[in-house]
Amino acid sequence: MSAIHQTWDAADYAANGRFVSDLAADVLQWLAPRPGERILDLGCGDGVIAQRLARAGCQVVGVDTDAAMLDAARARGVTVVRASGEDLPFEREFDAVFSNAALHWMRQARAVLEGVHRALRPGGRFVAEMGGHGNVAAVITAMRAVARHRGADESLAGPWFFPTEEAYGEMLRQAGFKVRRMALIPRPTPLPGGMSAWLKTFRGVFFAQFGEDAPVVLAEVEDLLRPVLCDARGQWSADYVRLRLEAVKE
Ligand code: BEZ
Repeated sequence: MSAIHQTWDAADYAANGRFVSDLAADVLQWLAPRPGERILDLGCGDGVIAQRLARAGCQVVGVDTDAAMLDAARARGVTVVRASGEDLPFEREFDAVFSNAALHWMRQARAVLEGVHRALRPGGRFVAEMGGHGNVAAVITAMRAVARHRGADESLAGPWFFPTEEAYGEMLRQAGFKVRRMALIPRPTPLPGGMSAWLKTFRGVFFAQFGEDAPVVLAEVEDLLRPVLCDARGQWSADYVRLRLEAVKE
């Protein structure tokens, strides 16, 4: 498993990551899907949102790299294609490309945007939400601090792509899009399973480097974060910052 090519366990994700699709209402409102539209769900994961779009009457194709997540999406009746978002195999066939909480895993952002542009018919829209600049900054800093103290690989703490509005807007324009709207939105997000479950689900690659010491390292990271991300009632949140956008293929 490389730093960025995390693999997923569909049951673990359902227990500790379901809030990701549950919190997609705002970006879905920006998508405003219409029955009959052909929509590509880029980074569809376990297919919960794609299924919702299909039930709204859209013709949906989900694309992802993770075999376990694609199996879960197929089990929901979603049509899926296994492909990298950095090398999308579609040509002028979608009315919209949608993506929720997936683009920050794809570090070759220019290749992603070129593929999205290619996949859309002229006038088609790209509506997405991803981690934006400053996303999970405290979480990454705590992991880096612990790794540095132990002489471990701190680059494994935060391999994601969290761009500013300005930087991503420029990339969209260079790829041939007109940006209709874009916003950077701080959204502290309650974590149903607490911080340790989030860390294990979303950054297991970082903790794996510590072998049998991983549980101790996890506790150290959690201790550093408790004063800023756990409230007096013991409810943990992650310091999420969302970058939401709607752009059109000119
Ligand atoms: C996010 O949705 O912002 C996110 C999820 C997992 C790891 C990092 C960021």
